[in-house]
Amino acid sequence: MTDRLPTIKIDQPSVVGEYDEGIQTLLQLLWGDGFLSPGGAEEVALLLFGESIQGAQVLDIGAGLGAVDQLLVSVHGAGSVVGIDVDPALLAQMDVRIARAGLTDRIRSQCVVPGPLPFADHSFDVVFSKDSLVQIPDKPAIFCEVLRVLKPGGRFLASDWLRGGEGAYSAEMLEYFRLEGIAYNMASSRESTAALNGAGFTQVQIQDRHAWYQTLAEQELASIAGPLYPLMVARLGREKAEHFVANWRQLVLVVQRGELRPTHLKAVKPW
Ligand SMILES: C[S@@+](CC[C@H](N)C(=O)[O-])C[C@H]1O[C@@H](n2cnc3c(N)ncnc32)[C@H](O)[C@@H]1O
Repeated sequence: MTDRLPTIKIDQPSVVGEYDEGIQTLLQLLWGDGFLSPGGAEEVALLLFGESIQGAQVLDIGAGLGAVDQLLVSVHGAGSVVGIDVDPALLAQMDVRIARAGLTDRIRSQCVVPGPLPFADHSFDVVFSKDSLVQIPDKPAIFCEVLRVLKPGGRFLASDWLRGGEGAYSAEMLEYFRLEGIAYNMASSRESTAALNGAGFTQVQIQDRHAWYQTLAEQELASIAGPLYPLMVARLGREKAEHFVANWRQLVLVVQRGELRPTHLKAVKPW
């Protein structure tokens, strides 16, 4: 096993470049071309179940490589999507993907710095996010910003990686963060609900996706340590491949302990 990073980054804003080529390659082998979060088109469809975004002006927070934004338009009929991210290298790849798909008139990327959203009040019908809020430390502040940029009656539809429990992270979680090398800032379900209500949202809904992801994460580990291993070695070298096997063992452990819980958050801005 290798130690990719000497320090653990928690409760800090995301660091540009932390999704390096190695992790991008691994995540796309696991989760599909252009996806940096699990579940692909099916999970996006489940998150949007019962929520038409037909014709909507959508903001996507943490767009990454943009495969999700493509789905929002081509499968779910969003009128337009602005995909924001802190990492220009990811957005450059998103731009290529969107141009190749012929969707530049509907989808654009915008590089941002952590902090207030660079949009006027009442700009969007829907604010969407797929597994990116976990990298934003101040949940009350970001939820206030989401509320501000939504039009009255607008909806916030997000998947986030929440934690089980509160207080100090367990040693197992700290080891997971160390191996992953990505800055995480996990809120509990109680904290997320309180932050959404505190920002002024109504109709707050929380749907825990832990059971689904536990099964999937165990399959991911079996795949990384089994049939996918030779391909990982060929693409990334043996040292990185070994690192990712250790990383996923730790991820599965914290998921099994109930400490990492992908969760759908939905809320409405009052009229
Ligand atoms: C797990 S990836 C998910 C990407 C994409 N939503 C997907 O599902 O494929 C998280 C993304 O959030 C971005 N990110 C981190 N902090 C951010 C912030 N403060 N504002 C916007 N994006 C951020 C990262 O650069 C990364 O692209």
